[in-house]
Amino acid sequence: MAEPSLFCQVNTSATGPAETAKKHVPVITVPSVIKVGQPFTVNIKVGEAPHVMENGHFIQFIDLYSGHIYISRVDFTAELNKPEATVTIVLPHEGKRLLRAFSRCNLHGIWEGKKEIDVAK
Ligand SMILES: [Fe+2]
Repeated sequence: MAEPSLFCQVNTSATGPAETAKKHVPVITVPSVIKVGQPFTVNIKVGEAPHVMENGHFIQFIDLYSGHIYISRVDFTAELNKPEATVTIVLPHEGKRLLRAFSRCNLHGIWEGKKEIDVAK
């Protein structure tokens, strides 16, 4: 059953119900050292706990941003995917950046996970 209130906002672990958040907030993993202009991988897994991928209830996509700058989208198909993606990105400026990942569940709305990174020279 869809939860209408979850569709009125971007949900986070701070705002969404804890049990629902555990299955929906994207978890971002990056290398410990990130260099300006050098490709690196970003792994995004939806939820600390596994989310189902059934026809009636599944993660539709993950979007990745650096701050407010769009980087990537990965779409998923019910039954045929796990809600996890690895993308290779390049950041052209040094300094602290906030990677933001958004997942969308067809029944539980959009969820945001964040990871601050330091892009070194
Ligand atoms: Fe869900």
